[in-house]
Amino acid sequence: MNPLNHVAIIMDGNGRWGLKYKNSRNAGHRAGLNTVEKIIKETIHQKIKYLTLYAFSTENWKRPRKEIKYLFDLLENFLINKIDKLNDQNIKLKIIGIKNFSTKLNKLLNIAEKKTCKNTKLQINLALNYGSKSEIINAIKKLKKNNKPINEKNLIKNFQTKNIPDPEILIRTGNTKRLSNFLLWQAAYSEIFFEKKLWPSFERSDFKKIIRKYKSIKRNFGSI
Ligand code: FPP
Repeated sequence: MNPLNHVAIIMDGNGRWGLKYKNSRNAGHRAGLNTVEKIIKETIHQKIKYLTLYAFSTENWKRPRKEIKYLFDLLENFLINKIDKLNDQNIKLKIIGIKNFSTKLNKLLNIAEKKTCKNTKLQINLALNYGSKSEIINAIKKLKKNNKPINEKNLIKNFQTKNIPDPEILIRTGNTKRLSNFLLWQAAYSEIFFEKKLWPSFERSDFKKIIRKYKSIKRNFGSI
């Protein structure tokens, strides 16, 4: 059976779900947060060690200011209300992406990372203001600056995902088949699952079905 250490998810479809059922995109983001909590539970249940969630891309700054504010308020409240619970559950939170948010949010993120940094049951990588292309370019720039050879090993060491194994599974909900600048390097050999359901409708049972399917796939990494 295929080993499974890392699942990465593009949580797409909040806005459409919100408009369809509540006449508000923001209501979709709120509902999306409930799905995040359900999926964390199932990840722990499956004994998966890493869960990477794409919460805000470098391109998401193009959204209306009101929606961006709503998303960050949601995240602030999540950190304020849930970080102790995550910590008690031995969960480590790591941010991948550039932390250039409000002073308050930056501080909350730093506190959350520091508080949970020694935890070992599950590592949640929250991709915030994350873009894979700039991650790769920044790694190359760093190597050039330090006169280091540009090779696979050195590049990986300079990614934000250093010390995190590549995801074996990448899921995108919301019935869209693209990677949207997410883990382009790291997903080179991931099994990719495009799920029709919108993120707030995605259930633990859907996640379990994908894991079962993944475990039955013959993975040959270019061999035969
Ligand atoms: C994509 O759906 C979703 C986002 C850009 C935000 C993801 C945020 C959450 C799941 C909730 C907050 C999470 C945390 C951890 C605080 P979309 O808005 O692009 O949906 P659409 O394609 O239907 O417009």
